[in-house]
Amino acid sequence: MKVLMLNQKSGMLFEDIETYVTKTKTYQNNFILFPTDVYLNYCIERGFICGAQNIAQSDEKNQTGELTGKQINSIGAKYVIIGHSERRNNQKEGSDVLVNKFETAINNSLNIVYCIGESLVDYKLGNTSQIVSSQLKEVFNKVKVTGDVKLYIAYEPIWAIGTGLTPTTQEISNVSSVIIDYLKDNHIKIDGILYGGSVNNENIETLLNIENVDGFLIGGASNNYLKTIDICEKVNNSTK
Ligand code: PGA
Repeated sequence: MKVLMLNQKSGMLFEDIETYVTKTKTYQNNFILFPTDVYLNYCIERGFICGAQNIAQSDEKNQTGELTGKQINSIGAKYVIIGHSERRNNQKEGSDVLVNKFETAINNSLNIVYCIGESLVDYKLGNTSQIVSSQLKEVFNKVKVTGDVKLYIAYEPIWAIGTGLTPTTQEISNVSSVIIDYLKDNHIKIDGILYGGSVNNENIETLLNIENVDGFLIGGASNNYLKTIDICEKVNNSTK
């Protein structure tokens, strides 16, 4: 069955997460939830398997406003997202930062969801494979994921995030092949390839047909419990 990772980003108020958790509780084994940091403990205590949307570059104590790997681990969260395009763009996170975050996650036995994906300009120029490969190289040339840490690669074209646009299933499949080839050539073992970017309860059935994609990273639709439940049911009813 395909894996569902729900990246709730920053849009949920406390009353929203209370409702969300109550309404989706019976589906809580169907997905991994990445709530906003302040709600992590609340969700974990209610039995949801959770991850943090971000991680500090080290476990150093004097980092006002940061959440360290040690802290994420200590509350029982199991995953972290690294390399999301919103952080690459807004916080200007580059290779060195990403590598530090990988190391902190690995040191704290946190499973990693590493996001990669091209801009609209690069998509239009036909540079997708090249961009995706360079984003893989920028971390895997420098860091080795070891131990029991699970590694997922999420292909998220920037132009598809929050826009309602998605690549064709063939395009997603082609990028997945590029990722698989790179990993094979470099002897890197992963636990799955995810697609992210405007996945919702209306297009999930089509996207489920992509054979070399193992799951989805879902943003906007994961802020809505009805859409989340619909997605879970469609995944559960699918033979893919
Ligand atoms: P979206 O976001 O589903 O709202 O497009 C996906 C993501 O940014 O992870």
